[in-house]
Amino acid sequence: MNLILLGAPGAGKGTQAEKISGKLGIPQISTGNMLREAVKNGTPMGLRAKEAMDSGALVSDEIVIGILKDRIAQDDAQDGFILDGFPRTVAQAEALEQMGITIDKVLEVHVPDDRICARMSGRRVCEACGASYHIDFKPTKTEGVCDACGGKTVQRADDTPETVLSRLAVYHEKTAPLKDFYGTRGKLVTVEGQQEIDETTKLVFEALGIDE
Ligand code: AP5
Ligand code: MG
Repeated sequence: MNLILLGAPGAGKGTQAEKISGKLGIPQISTGNMLREAVKNGTPMGLRAKEAMDSGALVSDEIVIGILKDRIAQDDAQDGFILDGFPRTVAQAEALEQMGITIDKVLEVHVPDDRICARMSGRRVCEACGASYHIDFKPTKTEGVCDACGGKTVQRADDTPETVLSRLAVYHEKTAPLKDFYGTRGKLVTVEGQQEIDETTKLVFEALGIDE
């Protein structure tokens, strides 16, 4: 199954992609995580991407399409994948079609903007492995320490209230049009993402026709 998770920043794409990945045994492919890794390692691509990411803008289509193409060519993606944070523009969606990739479903996780702002202030991510937590809704067992690898959990650089507002504006302008793009192709399903994480997962599995 080739899936796309669509939704505003903080809607829960990463959280739900991880659950689907665990269930179906196909990889979660997050362009955001790959870009953050490149920034952390100071690669030339990371250096080019950093400014856009820090301000809440999108990284250029050219860079992102390039990394996505390389990633889906890897062995573990040959039996399916979950795209988390890609495509983000109509140009990226068209590039996927031009690569000859068939998408089975596009799942939109819908959360209103006012809920997003409150949610983002509590997110913490592991500096070392990128695992994501929330101080209230998905706390680590020990405060500040990643359950998965023991790394230090920190706030993401683009989770400040001002940057979250910019990211939401960019989402509505550049990414929300993809709902029509995939809607007209009969691929779009929408689930409400405002309930607790496990409740949302139930809705996600139902929408994808996955047994729990
Ligand atoms: P990216 O990393 O993709 O960020 P995003 O889309 O802004 O989304 P987030 O990762 O912030 O949120 P999410 O929906 O994954 O939510 P999560 O599950 O973490 O991109 C970052 C940047 O990289 C972009 O701004 C851009 O610059 C660049 N970029 C990436 N891809 C690009 C592309 N294709 N083109 C161009 N540029 C690109 O959940 C959020 C928090 O809420 C967590 O703390 C979580 O624990 C909690 N939570 C989740 N679900 C629930 C729930 N149901 N109830 C309560 N809390 C919940
Ligand atoms: Mg994410």
